[in-house]
Amino acid sequence: MNAWVDNFGRTARKLRISVTDRCNLRCVYCMPEHPVWMPKKEILTFEELTRIASIAARHGVDRLRVTGGEPLLRKDLSVFINMLKGIAGIREIALTTNGLLLPQQARALYAAGLDRVTVSVDSLHRERVLKLARRDVRDGVLAGIEAARAAGFEGERLKINVVVMRGRNEEEVGDITAWAREQNLHLRFIEFMPLEGDKIWSRSLLVPAEEIISRVKERFPLNVGVRKPGETAETYSFIDGKGSIGVIASVTQAFCGDCDRVRITADGGFRTCLFAASGTDLRGPLRSGVSDEGLAEYMKMAVSRKNRGHLVSDPAFQRPDLAMNAIGG
Ligand code: GTP
Ligand code: 5AD
Ligand code: SF4
Repeated sequence: MNAWVDNFGRTARKLRISVTDRCNLRCVYCMPEHPVWMPKKEILTFEELTRIASIAARHGVDRLRVTGGEPLLRKDLSVFINMLKGIAGIREIALTTNGLLLPQQARALYAAGLDRVTVSVDSLHRERVLKLARRDVRDGVLAGIEAARAAGFEGERLKINVVVMRGRNEEEVGDITAWAREQNLHLRFIEFMPLEGDKIWSRSLLVPAEEIISRVKERFPLNVGVRKPGETAETYSFIDGKGSIGVIASVTQAFCGDCDRVRITADGGFRTCLFAASGTDLRGPLRSGVSDEGLAEYMKMAVSRKNRGHLVSDPAFQRPDLAMNAIGG
């Protein structure tokens, strides 16, 4: 097997597949309030995406994560999960979702072979959720988490993501931690990155990981954090032994040095970094009859040119051409 390695010695091991840029929420840290969607005809079919994933699997990728927008808006997503499950060499398939459609779909996803689910919960207060997601969905998201559990996504199979924003939800870090401990859920707090559609990001809206951790520690003492190579989160176990939390310090303690992720957007843009200025188009070649070897070559070349890291803290930083909902996170 011929793995894809970049100029800094990092090997592509995880492929994140965005199946749609559409979403039923409008989270302020992600989507513009008035999005312009990708044209439907430009969205890759499940067959096209499966072909890309199969080629990646032949070149060292062994984990997949399905993202959006909101991936469960794509019709028959569980069918797609099942197609991915059939790819030789793939040892894990995960899904990042806002949870709203899990009551209808969790069982089918589990049956299709989905290994893990991550649900976003940024606040437990209805009013705050409404302001953050620009939709009144607090109860719907919590029902989604229950449905995921009931379908079999428990323990390591279920994670909760919380994007922390100054003035929006940082006061709730302790309470959300308490809730997760009661519910036996693994939480990850995430620093707000400049990838949102409405371009509101500024340093003053960022709550640094260090502050998040000290807010947790005020309520629940923690052991020293550990980040495994290739992982986004630093994990801290509670001193009392009751589980752990993670913090994803994408901005203040970037983890680009051992990044093993690549991405495909719903319209077929191959991106080797979340902050890549643009993607390498695979849709054109795919739809004009390129061979598997040809597609692999495009991806291999793109990986070799992968950014060393993001430049968010550099004065010359420029945003990617797409917002988070279209890149997939
Ligand atoms: P696990 O496999 O469960 O660890 O998932 P994950 O953390 O890779 O994925 P998830 O979709 O839950 O993303 C959590 C947060 O990490 C989101 O805010 C992502 O945008 C961010 N993230 C994921 N991959 C990268 C990356 O390569 N670079 C940066 N800067 N952030 C990332
Ligand atoms: N910064 C950090 N995380 C973000 N997410 C979406 N937008 C941002 C952002 N600007 C998170 C979502 C989801 C994951 C895929 O990315 O909450 O959990
Ligand atoms: Fe939708 Fe997820 Fe983006 Fe929120 S973070 S707008 S739920 S894609």
